[in-house]
Amino acid sequence: MRSSEITDEFKKLGFKNFRIEGKPELIQGAYECAYNYFQSFRDIREQRQNSIALLGQPGTGKTHLLTAIANNLMHKKHVGVQYFPYVEGFNDLKDDFDKLEEKMGRMKEADVLFIDDLFKPARGKARATDWQVEQAYAVINHRYLNHKPIMISSELQIDQMVEIDEALATRIYEMCKDYLVLIQGDKFQLNHRLEGMT
Ligand SMILES: Nc1ncnc2c1ncn2[C@@H]1O[C@H](COP(=O)(O)OP(=O)(O)O)[C@@H](O)[C@H]1O
Ligand SMILES: [Mg+2]
Repeated sequence: MRSSEITDEFKKLGFKNFRIEGKPELIQGAYECAYNYFQSFRDIREQRQNSIALLGQPGTGKTHLLTAIANNLMHKKHVGVQYFPYVEGFNDLKDDFDKLEEKMGRMKEADVLFIDDLFKPARGKARATDWQVEQAYAVINHRYLNHKPIMISSELQIDQMVEIDEALATRIYEMCKDYLVLIQGDKFQLNHRLEGMT
């Protein structure tokens, strides 16, 4: 738990405080996908399709649901989860090259790696430097080859990830395809932060 880099704020996010009543079907579907993933984790963790990706618009609960899985895996199944927020995580890696190998090693070897906001777009444009793609590829390819689960949230869809890097995106797709949700539509319906506005 201490080494997961999941903050106090995150520890509060669970399945129980994720509301599904009155929510659009897409949101209910995302909840079910996340909950089923947690329930099935033990049976699938060694398989090729052992990972989950929640993709789509901001404010739809992607981080909440993946954090709920992380908290439950850590507390109820004693599985280690390493949290890697894409933007801050890469800034941190870049700031301290001495620790790069050690940190990359942790990301490769953690029981589960949770990458939050992969390729987070800045002003509508997906963000990924060659260096970021290289590092992300090294980690994800290692996990792919060794059947180690990843959990990914992103505003990008798989085809947009393919545009950034095909080798990386197709591995993510292969790992996540059994538990893959795309949340896309009317932001006034889907964005929890806009609830009650219309
Ligand atoms: N269905 C929901 N029930 C309760 N809280 C929610 C729900 N969906 C989102 N939230 C809350 O709204 C905020 C935004 O959700 P978040 O998971 O960060 O969205 P995303 O990662 O998709 O941008 C968070 O504080 C989260 O806890
Ligand atoms: Mg998020």
